[in-house]
Amino acid sequence: MTISMRRILLAFVAVAVACRATISETELATKAAQGLRLIDYDLDAEPIWMTEDEKLELIRANKNFFDVTDTYEPAESVVALKVVLDDQRAGQQAYAAPSKQSAVKPLISQISLSNMQSYLTNLTAFNNRYYRATTGAQASVWIRDTIAAIAAANPTSGASVALFPHSFVQSSIIAKIPGKDANAPLIIIGAHMDSINSRNTAGRAPGADDDGSGTVNLMEAFRVLVSSGFQASTPVEFHWYAGEEGGLLGSQDVAKSYKTNGALVKAMLQFDMTAYVAPGSKEVISLMPDYTNTNLTSFIGALVDNYSALPWAINGACGYACSDHASWDKQGYPTALPFEGTYPANSNSRIHSDGDTVNVTGFSWSHTLEYTKIAVAYAYELGA
Ligand SMILES: *[C@@H]1O[C@H](CO)[C@@H](O)[C@H](O)[C@H]1NC(C)=O
Ligand SMILES: *[C@@H]1O[C@H](CO)[C@@H](O)[C@H](O)[C@H]1NC(C)=O
Ligand SMILES: *[C@@H]1O[C@H](CO)[C@@H](O)[C@H](O)[C@H]1NC(C)=O
Ligand SMILES: *[C@@H]1O[C@H](CO)[C@@H](O)[C@H](O)[C@H]1NC(C)=O
Ligand SMILES: [Zn+2]
Repeated sequence: MTISMRRILLAFVAVAVACRATISETELATKAAQGLRLIDYDLDAEPIWMTEDEKLELIRANKNFFDVTDTYEPAESVVALKVVLDDQRAGQQAYAAPSKQSAVKPLISQISLSNMQSYLTNLTAFNNRYYRATTGAQASVWIRDTIAAIAAANPTSGASVALFPHSFVQSSIIAKIPGKDANAPLIIIGAHMDSINSRNTAGRAPGADDDGSGTVNLMEAFRVLVSSGFQASTPVEFHWYAGEEGGLLGSQDVAKSYKTNGALVKAMLQFDMTAYVAPGSKEVISLMPDYTNTNLTSFIGALVDNYSALPWAINGACGYACSDHASWDKQGYPTALPFEGTYPANSNSRIHSDGDTVNVTGFSWSHTLEYTKIAVAYAYELGA
């Protein structure tokens, strides 16, 4: 289907949706006070109310969704935005080819796998990182404190970190490396720091791959950049999102707040599961084609060509609301999502359970190390 055909169809859908009743402020407040959650599972439909148990059933069935209880916008406005988004996704952004190899390669050589391993040991030691659990809140504070210690040890970097609180106990974490031009569009890299045991939310959920792997890629990339004296031209931000497993909760709050405040974003790169190579499969960095920006995705492919030993390939669709990049895409910002392997065929089946550990056959430290390289290269090539 061509873009213009799609625009015509979306315009038609916009008219159809405009005829439907949207959810009023009163209904939102009343139903939310009853503990119900508003679930957006499809671009072209109004969201529906569910109990927490019904929401967990969706997670158990591996159905992705936005929980928009705290961020609701009527579908008609979202559909109208999608017309703009289709243009935005399809190439209105320019990313120069990688050109800073002589600076980036020495940084990559400073990446420490043993640092990544000890970060992951500490993260997975929390019983779970569930967004409604005390241990989930503690894990968020632990990331903040670990990143704050790196910033404090390198005061000339000007780097800083803070919690971003939500309506639930777990906070997201935002670390900033300032740019010489404070108003230049932001370079963002994100991962989600929560985990879930979808059968028993009070149970063990080490979340080593999902998304401990992306979380430690970002922690180690931040350490390498800040401790090397990296001076950015453009502000670079590292985001660890709360409540991704509960319907992209943390990232929706953050992306909506950036949009409301008029923030400009040059690129948002999401890492969600970077450590598993299905036994017998071809090792590949899989780039998601949907709800992402084509030019940013091509740029990530070029980073892989330049800085990783692995090949990349364009995946089939990841689907609606498949990770936190979708929260940024929904607000009109360009995103990309490199995944651990071909999805869904070769993705880790032990996630969302007590079995998501580093001992899963196929969990690969050398594989996830490649994503830390990409994170460092992304921040430097776009931010320096
Ligand atoms: C986006 O990528 C396409 C395909 O490579 C290219 O033709 C287009 O010029 C790019 N857009 C910008 C703004 O660079
Ligand atoms: C990780 O946990 C160990 C054991 O509790 C502790 O000694 C170490 O300081 C922790 N590392 C960080 C970075 O907090
Ligand atoms: C680096 O990326 C550029 C832009 O895509 C490409 O032309 C070049 O061949 C790449 N270098 C390597 C070593 O792959
Ligand atoms: C992984 O296996 C090692 C060796 O058997 C064991 O010591 C460790 O506790 C296991 N870790 C997890 C998270 O299951
Ligand atoms: Zn995940």
